[in-house]
Amino acid sequence: MTAKRIGRITKISGNMVTAAFDSPVMQNEVAFILHGEERLKSEIIRVRGNLAEMQVYEDTGRLRVGEHVEFTGELLSVELGPGMLGQIFDGLQNPLPELAEQCGFFLKRGIYIDPLPESREWQFSPLVQPGDTVRAGDAVGFVEEKLFRHSCMVPFSWEGVFKVDSVANPGVYTKRQPVAHLMDEKGSIHPVFLSQTWPVKIPIRAYAEKLKPTEPLVTKMRLIDSLFPVARGGTYCIPGPFGAGKTVLQQLISRHADADVVVIAACGERAGEVVETIKTFPTLIDPRTHRPLSDRTVIICNTSSMPVAARESSVYTAVTIAEYYRQMGLHVLLLADSTSRWAQAMREMSGRLEEIPGEEAFPAYLESHIASFYERAGLVRLHNGATGSVTIGGAVSPAGGNFEEPVTQATLKVVGAFHGLSRSRSDARRYPAIDPLISWSKYRSIIDEIQRMRGQEILRKGNDVAQMMKVVGEEGTSLPDYIEYLKAEFFDFVYLQQNAFDPVDEATPEDRQIYVFEFIYHILDSNFTFKNKDEALHFFQQLRQVFRGWNSAQWKSEEFRNTEEEIRGLLHERAVSASHA
Ligand SMILES: Nc1ncnc2c1ncn2[C@@H]1O[C@H](COP(=O)(O)OP(=O)(O)O)[C@@H](O)[C@H]1O
Ligand SMILES: [Mg+2]
Repeated sequence: MTAKRIGRITKISGNMVTAAFDSPVMQNEVAFILHGEERLKSEIIRVRGNLAEMQVYEDTGRLRVGEHVEFTGELLSVELGPGMLGQIFDGLQNPLPELAEQCGFFLKRGIYIDPLPESREWQFSPLVQPGDTVRAGDAVGFVEEKLFRHSCMVPFSWEGVFKVDSVANPGVYTKRQPVAHLMDEKGSIHPVFLSQTWPVKIPIRAYAEKLKPTEPLVTKMRLIDSLFPVARGGTYCIPGPFGAGKTVLQQLISRHADADVVVIAACGERAGEVVETIKTFPTLIDPRTHRPLSDRTVIICNTSSMPVAARESSVYTAVTIAEYYRQMGLHVLLLADSTSRWAQAMREMSGRLEEIPGEEAFPAYLESHIASFYERAGLVRLHNGATGSVTIGGAVSPAGGNFEEPVTQATLKVVGAFHGLSRSRSDARRYPAIDPLISWSKYRSIIDEIQRMRGQEILRKGNDVAQMMKVVGEEGTSLPDYIEYLKAEFFDFVYLQQNAFDPVDEATPEDRQIYVFEFIYHILDSNFTFKNKDEALHFFQQLRQVFRGWNSAQWKSEEFRNTEEEIRGLLHERAVSASHA
């Protein structure tokens, strides 16, 4: 242990504190401000001469110039190990329900709770034998945690190759008891524990290689999977005006997406949103496993009343936890809601540092920070050949829904898919309000590419006609144009829109999407002959109604088959070119 390095406060300005030091300090080092019995966590964000400027993760009321600061020599880190699943942490990895129990939702400052309980016992099984060689990120064993075998890994920071000296027998261990001893190349022995710490701002790279994301991550939202897909290990963003449905969409995806683990970084935009999450989250049931959803979820929760620095750190805490599970060969989905809150925290801190502001007073490094956050997503091949992934989806809430602002623009430059919510769609209650005319994806869909493009073409054409009709009225529109419009509306209502309150319609599995899309594709591609617009309108209304019933029918149930027959009957009457056998 090195001697404690101490500094003295020379200036306090909001959550920024400056301290003079004698022995060297590090950028991003964690320091504690000592105020009576209190120890307030902070991080050095700039060093100038012998002055360290620190952002304090706590309320700085009553602090005085001259008080002591203790430098830790460590970067802001999280503890990674079994016991995180089902937890709700704040940005500094304090378990929120426990904190709330101790001091209410208005947190007392200077209280830090062990994120992973010390006394908790885990059933350990070894995976290596003495003499085996291992390196950082390799599993020496596993413990059973809820649905998973939670790998116990060689600390990610250890460099080089190690020889297993001893490994614990199967049995029950706490995080303080070593489960293996490894010998390094020089012959020194190091213990391995069930948990390890990792600095949140540095990506975990204990894998063999990063691969290009190619496999779709099925979310069971038709509009996403079929038209604007997300890839496992890829990135996407959901910008949208306030109240357009970003949070509801993220919640639907968190329940239904085909991911092993979901990490949610929630920066509450509305008062009470966080308290609501803490209360309702433990009661949600996973539609896939019929067990508590919390069994495969970790939530990092911040309210806008928490100090700005704590808010800023939460996305890093979340992505580090996501990377940890990826190291076990799991597919992880990280949902950040909303990244605009994070950007605002960056802006506030930059303002206090009096840095030269960029566009809309955001710091010049806004873009690079956003880029390096999304770069932590990815599909990786581990040393044992298995693959794991982190997929990142970020909601963005630009003021007034104006996508030209810096946060949306910086995000659009780096993500692989864009799901833009539009006010006009949410006002019309067309949910999910992802606007198919502005959204895009660079990833491969579960749908045949030609059909997918044809679907988008129909939507564009329908929109052109709709815009024209606003000017010339329905009478001024030709029958063929009007039919194009009806087709696009039909496609939107029966396929793109999904009823979040219908237990079947809220989530459409991949095979069903492929089946139904193909069916619709043939309808859209058929030549209908109608005597007049009324007849066309009537036909599509009827079709739409039956189709919606189909969407509510259990996949492959008798009701599903019967309704399909009914639809085929309607189409047959219309003498549609029945190429869909
Ligand atoms: N898929 C949906 N189905 C039905 N209602 C929705 C849906 N998405 C959003 N809403 C309605 O819009 C409201 C605001 O949605 P929310 O996700 O909180 O917006 P945002 O996060 O974009 O501000 C919800 O409370 C709900 O009433
Ligand atoms: Mg929201």
